[in-house]
Amino acid sequence: MGTLHFHPMLPETTHDEQSRMDFTSTLIRQLDAVIRPQLRSVYNKAVEPKLRRTMNREPNRHDIAKAMQAVDPNKLWYTLRTDAQDMMYRNAGPMIQRQLPEMIGKAKKWSSKGLGTLTLDPALEIPRYHTAVDIHRKPGGYHTELTEDDVLAGAEFDQSITMYSMGTQGPNNDDPGVSLAVWVKQNFPDLKPKRILDMGCTIGHNLLPFKDVFPGAEVHGIDVAAPCLRYGHARANALGVEVHFSQQDAENTNFPDGYFDVVMSRIMLHEMSGKAVPAMLKECHRILKPGGLMFHSDAPLFDEMDAYQASLRHWDTLYNNEPFMATVYELPLEKMYAEAGFPKASCFRAHVDSELRRKTNYDPAANRAGGKFFLVGARK
Ligand SMILES: C[S@@+](CC[C@H](N)C(=O)[O-])C[C@H]1O[C@@H](n2cnc3c(N)ncnc32)[C@H](O)[C@@H]1O
Repeated sequence: MGTLHFHPMLPETTHDEQSRMDFTSTLIRQLDAVIRPQLRSVYNKAVEPKLRRTMNREPNRHDIAKAMQAVDPNKLWYTLRTDAQDMMYRNAGPMIQRQLPEMIGKAKKWSSKGLGTLTLDPALEIPRYHTAVDIHRKPGGYHTELTEDDVLAGAEFDQSITMYSMGTQGPNNDDPGVSLAVWVKQNFPDLKPKRILDMGCTIGHNLLPFKDVFPGAEVHGIDVAAPCLRYGHARANALGVEVHFSQQDAENTNFPDGYFDVVMSRIMLHEMSGKAVPAMLKECHRILKPGGLMFHSDAPLFDEMDAYQASLRHWDTLYNNEPFMATVYELPLEKMYAEAGFPKASCFRAHVDSELRRKTNYDPAANRAGGKFFLVGARK
């Protein structure tokens, strides 16, 4: 389902480069959507009975992950999936690097169109949870710059999410953003937001839909990664959407108190350290207006699933360089929201329906998010 997206900031691909990316995308789809679900029956039939015989308690996600690591089909999956992840970057990286000067020129041209703003802060300290590992095995992570005015990490992110999401996030890879923006409009008709902030916006693909749904609002996106923001600003201009991008740490921004009506993030939480999350929540509380809405959308917390499903994050945590993924999904978020100043009674969870699924009626099993976007929210 779905076709690869197109906008003028995308790098150009040769036939062979595109074929290699298509192969990678198909391989990831097979591994994630077809083969991995079948490993559950290996667990149920061969591993679980043995675990239960040898343990006097319910196996937890750690027990299950450890036992599954010794099982051949799962070992093969780990190896292939890790290689497929590297394959994404092996394909996208050199393809962009060979045309990087042209890409930088294109970004400057589109940015000079003057829609929205781009404010970079070369002195910003990149948090250690980004510099200590190549997150998602992406060489150099989101923030590394190879040259002046670099856009490589942003272009590479755009290509890799296209391969990774396998076309299931819509033509602009923005189904989460579209679905969340529509959900805000439908569920909080009293808000009428004047200012909206997306924390950890990367290239802004899930931020732009907020401008479409709330055309009268001032829409901001922050990220620590300059090459992604440069690319994102150029992409937004190429797509004709007015958005304000700035390089800032979500733990400590320069926005005034009570500036925003909505502060949100999409899949940023699981990349932050255990210390960073409460600092970021306090910052959200500070920059929100009284009555304002905060929500953080990520994969469902572990208390929403069984131990086997939770054990699947073992690969992401240990092999995909996402060291905080598993621990973040165990955080008592509602309690932490209350500690950050949000009234406890205002905290809620939601499973937001995919707009793409509503429009195209695709099979939710084909999408990693299963046709829903989980979030935990609160009102100030
Ligand atoms: C997985 S990407 C999510 C991108 C995008 N929001 C989406 O929906 O796909 C996480 C982004 O969060 C950013 N990020 C992580 N920690 C941050 C922080 N403390 N402040 C600002 N951005 C941060 C990273 O640089 C990265 O671009």
